[in-house]
Amino acid sequence: MAKNKITVVGAGNVGATTAFIAATKQLGEIVLIDIVEGLSEGKALDIAEAAPIELYNADIIGTRDWEKTADSNIVIITSGLARKPGMSRDDLLAKNVQIVKSVSEKITKYSPDSIIIVVCNPLDAMVYTASKVTGFNKNRVMGMAGALDSARFSYFLASELDVSVEDVKCVLMGGHGDDMVPLPRFTSVSGIPICEFLEEDKINTLIERTRNGGIEIVNFMGTSAFYAPAAGAVKMAQAIIEDKKAVLSCCAYCKNEYNAGGYFVGVPAVLGAKGVEKIIELELNKDELSQFDKSLSHVKELSAKVDELLS
Ligand code: 2OP
Repeated sequence: MAKNKITVVGAGNVGATTAFIAATKQLGEIVLIDIVEGLSEGKALDIAEAAPIELYNADIIGTRDWEKTADSNIVIITSGLARKPGMSRDDLLAKNVQIVKSVSEKITKYSPDSIIIVVCNPLDAMVYTASKVTGFNKNRVMGMAGALDSARFSYFLASELDVSVEDVKCVLMGGHGDDMVPLPRFTSVSGIPICEFLEEDKINTLIERTRNGGIEIVNFMGTSAFYAPAAGAVKMAQAIIEDKKAVLSCCAYCKNEYNAGGYFVGVPAVLGAKGVEKIIELELNKDELSQFDKSLSHVKELSAKVDELLS
């Protein structure tokens, strides 16, 4: 069987960490590509040199040459500007749309059969950009945000309850923005609904902290998070490579699902060898639906801006 090949575009904080985690999990051959001379080469070599200590295969190269990415199964796009204090994810749109456009053109040329996982912001609009530019089947283009936002919510809950993070499972929907929709009704600790453990007020405080999880970190260190985003991207790549049929929240194309009308937005989905294999349609209550619709309207506005910028 041919080896899996994963290209990680962008060797900044998120990209290099993604490559590192993917290497430690031995997901396949990894190509780290960046436009900055020496950056991806240096980071890839550093990751390879950690292999004898951490005991994984040093199957990684860094490059600026797109030809070396040819025939990747998975391409993870992390390139683009990151937020600084005082910036919203949406402030990155104009610049990042051009970066994702140019990267998507390269992916179309060199890895036309690949599955794309977008990580850069504003996430849902960047997934839309990659889909529009590549023209790939919609199940082969998706975004990493739900895995990160759910991980944040799970971590906050596990800390509050003093239980293992492994046992907290949650569902989170909507765009990757301040109006994302964590769903406490579908959140449990080993199957026990969280309302059995926490009062509504406390749950709402943790939901608010999850919504502000990105900016909380930006405010601490002046740039955006990378360990958890990278872990989320690798989790998705692994689900695809190992055909796990993993159920997780991710930014996926919804035509009729949730009445989205043909947009990429965060929903629970099944990830396997074909990419997004199924969107799971939950019976949302009135309040959950109205939160989702509000978030979806925001995603639609940003996607319309992408249309303008690409026209
Ligand atoms: C975050 O939420 C990077 O958007 C990302 O931290």
